Amino acid sequence: MGFDAAWLDLRAPADAAARDPGLLAAAAAWLGDGLALDLGCGTGALARAFPAGRRWRLVDNDPALLSLAAARTPGAEAVRADLAGLAGLPLGGVRLATASALLDLASAAWIDGLAARLAASGIGLYAALTFDGRLDFAPPLAGDAEVRAAFLAHQGRDKGLGGPALGPGAADRLAAAFRARGYVVREADSPWRLGPGPLAAALVAGVAAAAGEAGCAGAAGWGRARAASGVGSALVGHRDMLALPAPSAQSKTTSVSSP
Ligand SMILES: C[S@@+](CC[C@H](N)C(=O)[O-])C[C@H]1O[C@@H](n2cnc3c(N)ncnc32)[C@H](O)[C@@H]1O
Repeated sequence: MGFDAAWLDLRAPADAAARDPGLLAAAAAWLGDGLALDLGCGTGALARAFPAGRRWRLVDNDPALLSLAAARTPGAEAVRADLAGLAGLPLGGVRLATASALLDLASAAWIDGLAARLAASGIGLYAALTFDGRLDFAPPLAGDAEVRAAFLAHQGRDKGLGGPALGPGAADRLAAAFRARGYVVREADSPWRLGPGPLAAALVAGVAAAAGEAGCAGAAGWGRARAASGVGSALVGHRDMLALPAPSAQSKTTSVSSP
C-alpha cells in the first residue's frame, strides 16, 4: 500500500467513517479560526473532514499529492517538505497540528521530537487513524496468523521518520510524550470495519505484498486464496488522539506573549 492518490481516494470514505466524531469536533473547536498544519496531507482528506472555511497549511514530500491537495483545499498554503527533519517544520502561526494515517510510520525519537517542538509553542495535536496493530480477517483462512505477524514486522521498518517505525506502538508513545509535557490527552478507538469490496481487496493485496517483503513465504498464496474466496471482511484497528496544552499552560503562554 503506497501513498498514491488512487489508494488514498479509495480509503477516504472508510477513514471518514472511522474517525471519532467527538475528537474531530473538539479539534475543530480548539482550532477555531486559527491556522492548522496538516502533516503528511496526501490528497488533503483530513482538511475536508473539518468544517469548511478553516485555514490550512498542508505539508507533504510528494509533489503530485501536494498539488492535488492544494487544488482540493481552496485557500490552503501548500509546503513541500520532508518531515524527517523536524527542525524545519513550518510551525509559524500554527494553533493545531494534524496528522491522519501517518504517525505509525514514525520512530520513538521522532514522536518525542514532535511533542517537544509543539509543546515549545503551545500547539495542539490532532492525530487520527494511527494503526494500533489489530488486523483481523473473516472468515478465517490458513496463513492468517503468519501473514499478520510478517505484516507487523514490516510495520517496524524505517519509513523515513527518524528510524525504525513504532507501528502499533506509536499511539501509546504519542499519548505518553504529550502527557509528559503537561498536555491533556484524549483518545478514541477508530477502526475500519470493512465488508467485502474494493477497499478490502486492496487491503488484502497490500498486506500480502508487505508480508511477502518481510519474508513470509506463504503471503502471496494467502492473498490469492483470500481473493478467490471473495476477500471477506476485515477489521483494522486505529486510534485517534487529541492532545491540547493544559489550560494553565495556555494562560501562561498568553501572559508571556502579552505586552
Ligand atoms: C498514509 S498517507 C496519509 C495521507 C493523508 N493524511 C490521509 O489521511 O489521507 C501518508 C502521507 O504522508 C506522506 N509522507 C510520508 N512520509 C513523509 C515524509 N517523510 N515527509 C513528508 N510527507 C511524508 C505521504 O506522501 C502520504 O501523503
